[in-house]
Amino acid sequence: MAGKKRILSGMRPTGPLHLGNLFGALDNWIKMQDEYDCFFFIADWHALTSDYEDPDNIKRYIDHVMIDWLSTGLSPEKSTLFVQSHIKEHAELFLILSMITPVPWLERNPTYKEQIVQLSNKDLSTFGFLGYPVLQAADIIIYKADGVPVGVDQIPHVEITREIARRFNHLYGEVFPEPEVILTKTPKILGIDRRKMSKSYNNAIFLSDSPDEIASKVSQMITDPQRARRSDPGNPDVCNVFEFHKTYSNKETVDAINRDCRIAQIGCVDCKKIMAQNLIKALEPVREKRKFYEQHPDLVNQIIEDGCHKARMVAKKTLEEVRAAINI
Ligand code: TRP
Ligand code: SF4
Repeated sequence: MAGKKRILSGMRPTGPLHLGNLFGALDNWIKMQDEYDCFFFIADWHALTSDYEDPDNIKRYIDHVMIDWLSTGLSPEKSTLFVQSHIKEHAELFLILSMITPVPWLERNPTYKEQIVQLSNKDLSTFGFLGYPVLQAADIIIYKADGVPVGVDQIPHVEITREIARRFNHLYGEVFPEPEVILTKTPKILGIDRRKMSKSYNNAIFLSDSPDEIASKVSQMITDPQRARRSDPGNPDVCNVFEFHKTYSNKETVDAINRDCRIAQIGCVDCKKIMAQNLIKALEPVREKRKFYEQHPDLVNQIIEDGCHKARMVAKKTLEEVRAAINI
């Protein structure tokens, strides 16, 4: 590990992972595993800040997301994979950081303001939800991460983390490096209804979907909205199915569809069938590995336990430094 920069990132276990998560984050993490000392964790306490009325779901998705990770290529040999709530030190550091974090920093956090409006069906006027970025800061600096690979929506949280780290160092002495954002390019993956793919929009194709589920979802995908009849020429440039072809089909197929769609030589039903077959095939290895892990729950638990053990060693050491710095 010596010499490698450390990165850390997390995901909330609020649902099964979908293709948007794969392209938005996971693919990137998988690639970073050789270059960095990677810490990836499941942020179950963060899930609790918004889903506190439904903790059973959180519990269920911890294992599900871990299996999503393992079956797409996160490797417990290369990376430290763990669950946030198993490392109680996060909570202690969160508590200490909350003493030095000015409330206005949290109140002006754009993600906070947005989420309060967007998730108006939930009562988010809680202390814990306001303190979300403080917990995230604890997650990050407890491992002294150099970088945090995240999408653009998480930049404000890493900014607050840097401010909190700076304030701690200023008050008690240099303990924490200020982590950098490693911006993940997030190609826009649209769901079957052409809105951004999201579990809450009910438009997602999940990594754990069966071939039948994938085929059925693809058959419901909205194509070129101008193409009403089979005899109308279509425009692949505005068609989400074509976007998927570009990822999952070979060049000849993509070229043929690009040509034939425009002259109504191919219909959307057939075009979708081809895409669905290729997508199903591409996810075959993921399904295979998922089956293996589902049949070996003890192995998954062991992987989580080993990861937590490695994470805990680092977290404990940082907490010792923190306690020494504040002398409490
Ligand atoms: N807030 C992040 C998200 O919703 C999840 C998260 C929690 C996280 N703690 C983190 C990400 C620490 C990076 C680093 O996606
Ligand atoms: Fe889209 Fe294919 Fe239909 Fe053309 S034929 S509009 S690319 S689904």
